[in-house]
Amino acid sequence: MPSSLHMLPGAPWIAHHEGELKVEQVPLQRLAAAHGTPLYVYSRAAIEAAASAWSDAAPGRDVALRYAVKANSSLAVLRVLAELGWGFDIVSGGELARVLAAGGDAAKTVFSGVGKTDAEIAAALRAGVQCLNVESESELQRIDRVAGQLGVRAPVSLRINPDVDARTHPYISTGLRSNKFGIPQALARRAYTGCAQLQHLRVVGIACHIGSQITELGPYLDALDRVVELVRDIEHHGVALAHIDLGGGLGIRYADEAPPRPAELLAALLARLDAAGLGQRPLLLEPGRSVVGNAGLLLTEVVTLKSSIERHFAVVDAAMNDLMRPALYEAWQDIVAVRPRDGAQARQYDVVGAVCESGDWLGRERLLDLREGDLLAVLSAGAYGMAMASNYNTRPRAAEVLVDGDRAHLIREREDVAALFAGERIAPR
Ligand code: LLP
Repeated sequence: MPSSLHMLPGAPWIAHHEGELKVEQVPLQRLAAAHGTPLYVYSRAAIEAAASAWSDAAPGRDVALRYAVKANSSLAVLRVLAELGWGFDIVSGGELARVLAAGGDAAKTVFSGVGKTDAEIAAALRAGVQCLNVESESELQRIDRVAGQLGVRAPVSLRINPDVDARTHPYISTGLRSNKFGIPQALARRAYTGCAQLQHLRVVGIACHIGSQITELGPYLDALDRVVELVRDIEHHGVALAHIDLGGGLGIRYADEAPPRPAELLAALLARLDAAGLGQRPLLLEPGRSVVGNAGLLLTEVVTLKSSIERHFAVVDAAMNDLMRPALYEAWQDIVAVRPRDGAQARQYDVVGAVCESGDWLGRERLLDLREGDLLAVLSAGAYGMAMASNYNTRPRAAEVLVDGDRAHLIREREDVAALFAGERIAPR
């Protein structure tokens, strides 16, 4: 049975109708003809629905949503979320510039990350961000110094490392004490009370983030328990914490995962905060993947079919530089034909790119009935797809399209090869 007959992860916005894959009402065949491949295609309705699942999750409660820009930082995507009233979670000066260019509100933007530079801190303070999520005592001093130079008080929230196992891929687990992230719990009180000596800081909250693609509630609740313990201890020592930020991380369905829905997560978190007497505290969350992941796909054309003694390869015009997740994490994303054939010539294909690395594959052992020139869609590619794309092998990055009903908007032009080396110089002899 061709995999296209399964319910696709982006359904109902990404689905086959009369033998042809469409995003909302737009056939992908048409988009490939108009814009070429590889092409990232997103559904605005799917993004909005995923965003609503968060914003409608806890009616009447003080929950502030800060979209994690790193998941998909295209301006058009940021604008969709800004229009829905979301704030943002950024990790670089570049992401700050994108948020501002897309019309995002700096006052609803939190700045995370382990290595903020003086220039990035200054830019964030000038823009008036909601807070900097601080990851070390040394960074506190750095922020104090930069804020002093600017004559402002920097709003800070300390990101603590709760030493909780998010039970996800080791590369995207961030809340273990062996990870580089956050301030160890044991040092948190000292860091907070030390802020009193730093006159250009204003403590506004506490933050943590334990990892990404989390498919169960347990790790989130364990992290919350540690945070609650710390809030009590720190406030007992005279430092008031206005908000609690629990990071992002809720997983999506790539294959058969069944992650909790935002409403389930929030019900569990808020019940525990209520029980701890902290239910009135504003709660911040920084979802990324769960907002855009299943709202996008990577459209690619089969260039060559070839077989070795042992395997069949479908070489496509997208590669690891366009979608790095399979190469980097051995991630599984569904791959379906845009116009599925009858299956008579179906084979187990390794779907690979043209990059000169054996790790350059998008999917392995996929049952597909293919001819050269066919279009394939790599699903669940809306998060950490384009945002992680590179120019390896001097491959221009893909174009992007945002579909809205029966309309398709080109939101990023295909990169031009000449632009790739426009800033380079040949050194004189
Ligand atoms: N907040 C912080 C501080 C983070 O570090 C992250 C993700 C998020 C929020 C958003 O988490 P999400 O809701 O998207 O899970 N490239 C990897 C994912 C790396 C995530 C790193 N941090 C992947 O493709 O699986």
